[in-house]
Amino acid sequence: MERGEAIVLIGFMGTGKSSIGRHLARRTSLPRYDTDEMVSARYGLRIAEIFVQFGESDFRGAETDALSQIPEQPVIVVTGGGIVLRSENVAILHRLGRIVNLAADEETLFARVSRRAARPLLQTANPRETLSAMLKQREPLYRAAADFTIDTSVLRHDEVADIILRQLQPLRLHFE
Ligand code: S3P
Repeated sequence: MERGEAIVLIGFMGTGKSSIGRHLARRTSLPRYDTDEMVSARYGLRIAEIFVQFGESDFRGAETDALSQIPEQPVIVVTGGGIVLRSENVAILHRLGRIVNLAADEETLFARVSRRAARPLLQTANPRETLSAMLKQREPLYRAAADFTIDTSVLRHDEVADIILRQLQPLRLHFE
């Protein structure tokens, strides 16, 4: 399949996709597309409010619509943690470019996502168990979709951005 020149970030909530995406956009001067931001702008609502008012299924539909609006050009793509749940999304991401899976150990993820109550899927009686179950279900999907994985547990966001750019260097993509 033809692969584009985008750098695509996938991974669980709390792996640093949004911040690392901003670093990459600054370092490469490429435009940044963040599917959560695109969906949020379309509804004029925060993600948590979209889940409450319209439900997860509508959110997932809007997420796929957002992906299909991203131009097939050298850009930075930041995705929501559930993007790998639909195989049609993964096919779009593959076409767009190289897919980087950002990972972190469970304790680190829980500590990071606990800092903000913005994640609707973790508003459960036992968020720790919910996170653990979701991670177990999704980890294989992230790994299968990705060209490579970076463990972000002990790295700063700028260090992760460095590693990504170094890994992609041999491909001589447009952004160098
Ligand atoms: C989701 C992750 C969120 C957001 C929504 C659903 C998920 O994005 O898309 O709350 O299913 O994992 P982040 O990964 O940026 O938190």
